[in-house]
Amino acid sequence: MELYEAIFNRRSHRLYKPDMPPKEVLQRVIDAARWAPSGTNAQAWEITVMAGRTREEFVALAAHSITHLMPILRAAAIPEKGQQMVARFFQDLGGAPAVIAVTIYKNADPHMNIANIQSGAALMQNLLLAAHAEGLGTCWMTGVLYVEKELLDYLGKPDQQLLAITPIGYSAKEPPVPPRKPREVRWLGFD
Ligand SMILES: Cc1cc2nc3c(=O)[nH]c(=O)nc-3n(C[C@H](O)[C@H](O)[C@H](O)COP(=O)(O)O)c2cc1C
Repeated sequence: MELYEAIFNRRSHRLYKPDMPPKEVLQRVIDAARWAPSGTNAQAWEITVMAGRTREEFVALAAHSITHLMPILRAAAIPEKGQQMVARFFQDLGGAPAVIAVTIYKNADPHMNIANIQSGAALMQNLLLAAHAEGLGTCWMTGVLYVEKELLDYLGKPDQQLLAITPIGYSAKEPPVPPRKPREVRWLGFD
């Protein structure tokens, strides 16, 4: 797939078919993710790919974040229907057959820690684009960070930080295209 096409057409998918993608496809996506740039090339990240019972248990824990999210959605005056959609998605991650968690090593130096987090974000974006190129849907999710400690404990990585998770699988519903805001882009010294 052409790179610009992947960038413009990748979407966040919130409903999946139950079919598991072939492991070699998931492996290619993970490999592309790992080739992201990283501060001092530290690659201070770890990736956990979950299916089957592990996925069930992890998703059940992640669903506890709904309790924290609901008051925030209500305060933001999100309509009842929208609140229910979010709750349903967080309940089972849209039925995706696999879930990927990206965790990051902590660094006591705040600048290095930010570099680790930004590197993890680069990995995450590579992962999303590669998945899209393979015909798979994903959804970058930080909403589950409300239960970060429980999820890290489950993963056996209590000393790391959870960057984000994503469901991964074949999409069952074409999502809408959320418009982009006309934020300022400054061009200085070009004339
Ligand atoms: C850092 C980050 C966190 C996100 N967290 C969530 C989340 O917790 N739940 C969710 O449904 N979508 C989440 N998203 C997806 C965004 O809602 C989505 O990217 C945005 O609405 C634009 O839509 P698109 O990805 O389809 O272009 C997150 C995206 C990013 C980059």
